[in-house]
Amino acid sequence: MADKKLIEDILVLLSERCRFNSLSLSIELSIDHQKIVGAIKSLQSLGDIIKSEQNETKRLDLTREGQQMVEKGSHEAVVWKLIGEEGMDQSKLMKEFGDPSAAKVGFSKAMSQKWIEIDKTSKVVKRKVEAIEDEVQLLLHRISRMDLNEVNEQQKQELKKRKLIQEVIVKSYDIEKGVNFTLNVEKQETDITGEMIAKGSWKEKQFKDYNFDAMGIPPERGHLHPLLKVREQFRQIFLEMGFTEMPTNRFIESSFWNFDALFVPQKHPARDLQDTFYLSDPQTCNDVPVDYMERVKAVHSTGDFGSQGYQYDWKIEETKKNVLRTHTTAVSARMLYQLAQQCKGQAFKPAKLFSIDRVFRNETLDATHLAEFHQIEGVVADVGLTLGDLMGLIKEFFLKVGVKRLRFKPTYNPYTEPSMEVYSYHESLKKWVEIGNSGVFRPEMLLPMGLPPNVNALGFGLGLERPTMIKYGIDNIRDLCGHKIDLQMVYENPVCILENH
Ligand SMILES: *[C@@H]1O[C@H](CO)[C@@H](O)[C@H](O)[C@H]1NC(C)=O
Ligand SMILES: *[C@@H]1O[C@H](CO)[C@@H](O)[C@H](O)[C@H]1NC(C)=O
Ligand SMILES: *[C@@H]1O[C@H](CO)[C@@H](O)[C@H](O)[C@H]1NC(C)=O
Repeated sequence: MADKKLIEDILVLLSERCRFNSLSLSIELSIDHQKIVGAIKSLQSLGDIIKSEQNETKRLDLTREGQQMVEKGSHEAVVWKLIGEEGMDQSKLMKEFGDPSAAKVGFSKAMSQKWIEIDKTSKVVKRKVEAIEDEVQLLLHRISRMDLNEVNEQQKQELKKRKLIQEVIVKSYDIEKGVNFTLNVEKQETDITGEMIAKGSWKEKQFKDYNFDAMGIPPERGHLHPLLKVREQFRQIFLEMGFTEMPTNRFIESSFWNFDALFVPQKHPARDLQDTFYLSDPQTCNDVPVDYMERVKAVHSTGDFGSQGYQYDWKIEETKKNVLRTHTTAVSARMLYQLAQQCKGQAFKPAKLFSIDRVFRNETLDATHLAEFHQIEGVVADVGLTLGDLMGLIKEFFLKVGVKRLRFKPTYNPYTEPSMEVYSYHESLKKWVEIGNSGVFRPEMLLPMGLPPNVNALGFGLGLERPTMIKYGIDNIRDLCGHKIDLQMVYENPVCILENH
């Protein structure tokens, strides 16, 4: 309900005057017109206490330029004043005036009014009359005081043409007493309360009608980031293909799981400070499985399981260093090791595992690289798997993503052999682009874990950010992730559906 005092005042006024206009009243009482309208609307909702009619009137208002002229005078008058008794060079006059387009108007109006003249050869402008009467300023002043009787139609048209005044439509209400007019309005209740029921006071109360046409309040809810939407699509594809999700809730790994277990030598450039974030606190970890670590040490330093290894001095201090994981393959290594422990003395149980989570690299940031991003990874372990199985797996996976034409290119990874980069034909770029990496995990990685020699493990991985950026038409990764992103983008981004899926 609007201001109760104002409503009462309006009713008292009505009882005295029978009729008034809301806008006139707002000027008379110096009360904001919107407040008066609010009070009228409240009265309208109470039945026939008042009778109201909408009233639209036209009013002339000064434009900004018009308002300025009321203070400073018309442009032509300003020109005449600037010139002074001695006259002034035309270019200097224009400069002194400031605003070039206003100066031009002022100059030509002053010329046609015959207030000034110009010497064609010297370009010196001089006053032609000793005094001027700035009629434009005078008229604008009258209009600003709503003193319209002394402004004729032709003058109004002229001022409108110069865009110094404009017509605005003012909406107001004309109010009269209604058939059920009363000075005593009781506030209508909007809700019945427990107290009203207990005291029985509800019987005397007036209740406001429900407004079934009112818009509901939009429910508060969260909004999924595009990365999460695309991640969900990839997750669905893996689940459809019978994969189980790996627990990836561990951003910090020991170098052991992140590198050594994957047969990445301790001098490998990927382990440099330039590439990997090392933790300062806690700097090292203590829970590396000791006998497994000994086997990993052996395969690195002296060679074992039929491999000659890298032949270098493997250091335990290096393996214990904590890092922000540089790939989710660290998680895959943990899972494969766990699989090996489970099959001790029992038949090997095949596994299809996937993960989609965040990894960290000390990258130079640019439009397509961040220091943290998401990796999608799939791993299959079974007896007697071949490279053909891996190619078939990747083809099926990407078919579900909507990518049909694939090519494989041999490459090198420390922990897979053979290894293949995956390329797809980009229909709009008209070229082959790399979309993922893959390979068969090396025996130097699987055998020290304790997996049976006839078990192979296949792996493939891709990024989450690039497909998301393509899907949502974002070309700078900083518009997708980070503290500067537009939250409206997150609110409004559409659902993600990967084609052919
Ligand atoms: C106005 O008063 C009459 C008589 O008291 C009543 O019948 C009618 O319902 C009232 N109208 C409204 C809209 O309250
Ligand atoms: C409409 O409103 C104006 C004030 O804006 C008022 O002067 C005029 O009398 C009103 N018209 C009627 C018919 O009440
Ligand atoms: C990241 O690499 C740069 C050199 O490229 C190095 O100066 C910096 O110390 C590294 N940052 C961390 C946190 O390791």
